[in-house]
Amino acid sequence: MYIPFARKYRPKRFSELVGQEVASKVLLNAVRLGKLANAYLFAGPRGTGKTTTARILTRAINCLRPTDGEPCGECENCLAIDKGNFPDLIEMDAASNRGIDDIRALRDAVSYTPIKGKHKVYILDEAHMLTKEAFNALLKTLEEPPPRTLFILCTTEYDKILPTILSRCQRIIFSKLKEEDIVKFLKLICERENLRCEEKALYTIARISDGGMRDAVSLLDQTATFGEGEVKEEVIEEFLGILSQEKVRDFIKLLLAGDVDGALSFLRDIRDKGYNLSKFWDSVEEEVRALVIFRSLRDPEKVIKVEPFHREVSANLNSLLYLEKLINTARMEARTMDLFKACEIAIIKSSIVKDILSIEELVKYLSSSEKPQEVQAKAQKEDLWQTLKNSLNKIDFEKLRRLSWEEKEGKIIIKAKKEELKGLDVEKLRTKFPFLEFVVEEAEKKEEKEELPEFVKKTKSLFNAKIISYERNKGKDNPS
Ligand SMILES: Nc1ncnc2c1ncn2[C@@H]1O[C@H](COP(=O)(O)OP(=O)(O)O)[C@@H](O)[C@H]1O
Ligand SMILES: [Mg+2]
Ligand SMILES: [Zn+2]
Repeated sequence: MYIPFARKYRPKRFSELVGQEVASKVLLNAVRLGKLANAYLFAGPRGTGKTTTARILTRAINCLRPTDGEPCGECENCLAIDKGNFPDLIEMDAASNRGIDDIRALRDAVSYTPIKGKHKVYILDEAHMLTKEAFNALLKTLEEPPPRTLFILCTTEYDKILPTILSRCQRIIFSKLKEEDIVKFLKLICERENLRCEEKALYTIARISDGGMRDAVSLLDQTATFGEGEVKEEVIEEFLGILSQEKVRDFIKLLLAGDVDGALSFLRDIRDKGYNLSKFWDSVEEEVRALVIFRSLRDPEKVIKVEPFHREVSANLNSLLYLEKLINTARMEARTMDLFKACEIAIIKSSIVKDILSIEELVKYLSSSEKPQEVQAKAQKEDLWQTLKNSLNKIDFEKLRRLSWEEKEGKIIIKAKKEELKGLDVEKLRTKFPFLEFVVEEAEKKEEKEELPEFVKKTKSLFNAKIISYERNKGKDNPS
């Protein structure tokens, strides 16, 4: 029988949970010390492990042979909880049992002591869906909790839980999982299942799952099924209708270049090939937002995963903000009109993105007689330097700026002598900024290698002169 990955790889002990270190630690400690709260509220996005953790906790406190707070997974109680036939675990889905009658029934049931286990556990999923009356009935129970009874409320919408309930629960926050952590877990599953996988495919899956492990694991499952045992980027694209990051970025480049024809036919192509347009637009928005963040922060590495693509794009912050707004507007308009049409309009409106000036350029333009095209042309030159200025420390930037340089085909070529580059890590600069080229001149004249006396240096720089010949008077301190 085929068991879906999401079930097969559902963690059974605290130590198997990915991420959620705080939740694990707090609960494991409570179990070890026997200091459980009467009620917990697990809050966080979907697919991050709330229900899973609730079941682990149930196991941990009912296990007949626990070790150090962890359930054994083999005793009668552990197995019964796994199979879903443990009489002292009552799982309710508030989305379907919303009414007060359901809660009354629950309240009455609570008065019976555990049948088989040490603790009776109520897991109330989607707790924010309860009606107000049901909440109040629950409140009574939480005020005078029966002995050896534990309530676990789970919710994706923390704000919708009444304050009176909140104050009676110990709150545990579940966070979105990190992309790296998801990829690691997916790799583990691939190993166990003997699946060949492309690393970038795993990253794509992690990215579209947006921090939710449930989505990630079931996407992996589907991809492996479609790909007949291989997890490939291509399969994700073809069968799940999700475009790769690379293609999304190509599309953004078209928008930034003002290539409306290109962008429109790209969009048509996506529709015609049956890709998921909504997911595509989400990815476009996410990528543009990353660009905005990259452009506006001094230290973007701390906020986003900086990639060569971010440095490659030279658009200024104003253009990026404008583009972000267009994309967002299309998403909102799609509520009342067809998403495809909304995207088309956004693309058409984006034709001016490439002409948007930055504030500095605007000021320059207003205070000069230059034509906007000229300012723009200059600005594009400036942009490379601006990029450097934004990402380098001041000293390094000033050092670079003082060297002689020229612009060619979107590159800055720096010509300098070895000693002028002292203190600069040229190798690092080269790899960090692919548009930087260094032409290192060896000192041509032997004489120049020698330390010149102060007055010669002065004369040299005063006349901007080149030294043709120079003799040192060996006998004396001063050269003749
Ligand atoms: N933190 C996690 N570590 C490992 N797997 C997880 C995690 N969170 C979710 N999963 C996977 O997703 C599935 C659904 O998780 P679940 O606990 O029901 O999420 P939630 O209740 O938060 O919506 C699990 O069966 C498991 O495969
Ligand atoms: Mg759940
Ligand atoms: Zn056990």
